[in-house]
Order: sequence, then structure tokens, then C-alpha cells
Amino acid sequence: RPIVFSGMQPSSDSLHLGNYLGALVNWVALQDEVDPIYCVVDLHAITVAQDPAALRESTRRTAAQYLAAGIDPERSTLFVQSHVPAHAELAWVLSTITGFGEASRMTQFKDKSAKQGADGATVGLFTYPVLMAADILLYDTSLVPVGDDQRQHLELTRDLAGRFNSRFGETFRIPEAYIPETSARIYDLQDPTSKMSKSAASDAGLVRVLDEPNATAKKFKSAVTDAEREIRYDRTAKPGVSNLLDIYAAVTGRGIPEIEAEYAGRGYGDLKKELAEVVVDRLAPIRARTFELLADPAELDRILALGADKAAERAEVKLAEVYERVGFVRRG
Ligand code: TYM
Repeated sequence: RPIVFSGMQPSSDSLHLGNYLGALVNWVALQDEVDPIYCVVDLHAITVAQDPAALRESTRRTAAQYLAAGIDPERSTLFVQSHVPAHAELAWVLSTITGFGEASRMTQFKDKSAKQGADGATVGLFTYPVLMAADILLYDTSLVPVGDDQRQHLELTRDLAGRFNSRFGETFRIPEAYIPETSARIYDLQDPTSKMSKSAASDAGLVRVLDEPNATAKKFKSAVTDAEREIRYDRTAKPGVSNLLDIYAAVTGRGIPEIEAEYAGRGYGDLKKELAEVVVDRLAPIRARTFELLADPAELDRILALGADKAAERAEVKLAEVYERVGFVRRG
């Protein structure tokens, strides 16, 4: 069975619709066919300023949302990154074969560091993609289900794996990105040329998995469209409507042409209202289940501890191999 690895940062109160449709839906769908490993990447979350209590809460919340969305801890290895020290350890080794210029070209680093101001960006933020490469390479991962924004990080991961292999001998499998067709990039409902993101300028464009159903419906009803009337997919001329159609297609599993045909001659109001219903119907049970799971943190922590044991066992084997390859003396 191909090994699948992916992760999300626990850096806000709730996952958003982009995280859900861009990645989590695929994680759930892949479970039957692969050997899945899903991680809450808390080490990544501290690359920008964080509040310790909030981080602890959102780490559990993120794990609870994975479970509520359908990740089954029997079939998947579900764990918290900081519980498996091999991630940070391999990241160190990989950082020594990563070019400074190569890391400097990461567009997500450029965007994020620009937002942090001159001295706000840390070395941790800079080496973030190297840690992500370590996450993936520790497990002989074949497929990495992510949204489109992680494409460049995946390329770096592949380059580092290949470089290590050619310098020290075959050690890592070269992974591939697994990116959905319609929902690889979900845009902000108020600013449909910017991707939906937890750091959105306005709350109204950000649809959170744990938002109240009424709030979600309202956000869809006030989504930005355009001055025409026609419901037609055109990413450049009609970014707002196209985003709504992408979301519709991703949630219902229907094709865009079919949805366009259904709405031929109808108004944006209908589309927004019906899309709001479809999304709320999908998210409401996930929201309810998440809060149920959070009501029993001891049980949640137990699931995560089991997952960490499973992950650590595998990760330690790979890390030992890496240490051997680079020439570290084995501890006697
Ligand atoms: P993160 O936490 O920013 O996002 C988690 C996942 O959600 C996807 N995503 C989106 N997809 C579609 N539309 C959007 N607007 C949108 N916003 C976010 C992301 O592509 C991602 O799949 N670096 C990663 C976390 C990570 C990781 C890994 C992923 C760390 N180690 C190893 C895969 C494998 C990140 O910051 O994701």
C-alpha cells in the first residue's frame, strides 16, 4: 500500500473551508486504499508568534476536526508532530544539504516574512519547508495530499530527497504531491483573488469549519460576485462566481458544467443560498462531532499517544538509517 503523509498547522480556532476542501477531504477518501499518516504540525505552528495556551487548545482542536471529518485512528496513524522527536532531528540533517538561496526562493517564506516586518521573521520561519520535508521523508511517503499552495514545498522536498540519495546512497523515497482538481485553491469570499487563509483581512470572507451554521450561511449570502448576472465559470473575469462554483463542485462531487446548466437563467442569489445550504449541511455534523470529542480531552490525548507510538516506531528506523549514512558514530 502506498504511504500517504500530510499535516496541518494548529494555528487558529478552527480549520477553514480551504483546509477542508483542499486537503482533509482527500485525506479521508484515501484512507481505504493507502497507509495514511496524518499529523498536527505544532512545530510548524511556532514559526510565527503564538500564545502557549491557545496553541495547546488548537492542537487538540485540529486533531478533533480530523477525527470528526472522518479520519479513523484505526486505519490512519494520527499524531502530533512534537510527540515524535525524529521530525526535528531529521530537519536538522536536511538543513545542512539545503542551499541558502534555494530556501530563500520559497514564496510562502517571502510572503510570510514580509508580513512579519524586518526583524519579525525568524530563522525557524525560514527553515520551515525543511521541517516539512523531514515530516514527509521520514515515512517513505509516496503521496502528499495538500492544496496548491504547498506545491513549491513539495518540489523542495523532492530535491532534498534526491540530493541526499545521490550524496549518501538510496535512503529516501521521492514523494509526489496529490492535489485536488476543483478545490486545490479556495479563495476568500470577500476577496476572491486571494486564497482563503486564517490570516484573512476580513472575517466575512473566511468560512471556518467550527463557525455557527448561521454565520456560515451569512458569509455565503454576502459573498462578492460581479456586476453581470450570468452564472458561468471564468476564473479571470468572474473570480467570485468561479470560486462559488468550485466550492459547490467540491462539496457535492458534481461537475462544473452540470452546475452551470442547473443555474442557467437563474440569479446569483439562488446560487449563494443553495450553496450555503450544501456547505452548512456538510460542516454542521463535523462541527458537532468536534465539540463532542473536545469534551473528553483525555480520550483524545489517548488516541494521539497511540498514534505517536506508531509513528515514532517507523520514524526512528529511518532516522537511524540517516545517521548511519551521514557518518555519525552509533551510540555504544
Ligand atoms: P496549512 O496548515 O497552511 O494548510 C493545511 C492544508 O490546507 C491547504 N490549504 C488550502 N487548500 C485550498 N485552498 C486554500 N485556500 C487553502 N489553504 C490551505 C494546504 O495546502 C494544506 O494542504 N506546510 C503545511 C503543513 C505541513 C505539511 C507537512 C503538509 C507541514 N508538514 C507535510 C504536508 C506534508 C501548511 O502550512 O499547511
